[in-house]
Amino acid sequence: MDALQQIQDEAQLVGWRTAHLGRSAPVMQVFARMGSIPKELRQQVGQKANQVKVALENALEERAAVLRREALERKLTAERLDVTLPGRLPAFGRAHPATQALDEICAIFIEMGFQIYRSPEVETEEMNFELLNIPAHHPARDMWDTFHTTTPGVILRTHTSPGQIRAMREMAPNPIRVILPGMVYRYEQTNASHEMQFNQVELLAVGQHITFADLKGTLESFARRMFGENARTRFRPSYFPFTEPSAEVDMECFICGGKGCGVCRGSGWLEIGGCGMVHPVVLQNGGYDPAVYSGFAAGLGPERIAMLKYHIEDIRYFWANDIRFLEQF
Ligand code: PHE
Repeated sequence: MDALQQIQDEAQLVGWRTAHLGRSAPVMQVFARMGSIPKELRQQVGQKANQVKVALENALEERAAVLRREALERKLTAERLDVTLPGRLPAFGRAHPATQALDEICAIFIEMGFQIYRSPEVETEEMNFELLNIPAHHPARDMWDTFHTTTPGVILRTHTSPGQIRAMREMAPNPIRVILPGMVYRYEQTNASHEMQFNQVELLAVGQHITFADLKGTLESFARRMFGENARTRFRPSYFPFTEPSAEVDMECFICGGKGCGVCRGSGWLEIGGCGMVHPVVLQNGGYDPAVYSGFAAGLGPERIAMLKYHIEDIRYFWANDIRFLEQF
């Protein structure tokens, strides 16, 4: 019985049971040899042996119960839960700020009646340049430093404008009102306002009697919806081989309110994209007769627009994948 009190686990209990209640245990041997006990003593011996057996069984069960209780106690202490502790919020995933800006821009143009048209990021030089009126060796190619693939004539698109040709060729001679959102790539020295990869949203409208006033109105209305009624834009004459006339669209710098700061490099304005009337050669390449049809096009930079909206001072934050930056949106 003393040995039983020393027992600490299930295995030892089993050992004890075998020794004291198993087939070769002394008390069990008494039952086994009942036949050799004189008849007149059998009842007495049997009763005694039974009492011993029951006492052993009870002692075993008692010890087993104590061990079970102790084990439960230990488990409860180890797994104690303080329900009064404040909860911990799990980390939530979310859309990348550039994606958010892209979605917002698309939503505004969709409201104005534009449809989204998808166009590939890996393009032919023909689509990216030639058909947009930029022949090989044309000095304007220097405007877009290109990432080439190992396949001659296949490049990463440097702008979303090749999508203009794809959309026109699919839809000619019907009127077009599409936006082409997506990533573009440039082999460029990076700085606070230039990255090697960024998004663009191309805008294309083709039909009869489309004028520069339509282009201006569309972009001004976009700026007001994106930045509020007081958002100011300005159009600066510019040059693109695939538009004529061409312009650059600037937004008043939100950070300094037009006074001039580091982000707008003192000018008070931040360029958000290029635009113009679709060049007759490009219309023709797309399958539209420039004598009958006209169109406008624009290419906006969602990251630039997000920078204005959220006062982000360096475009390189977008693809640096720093969680401290991404978490803020
Ligand atoms: N594709 C031009 C660029 O990336 C922008 C642009 C688009 C200009 C459409 C005019 C019309 O610089």
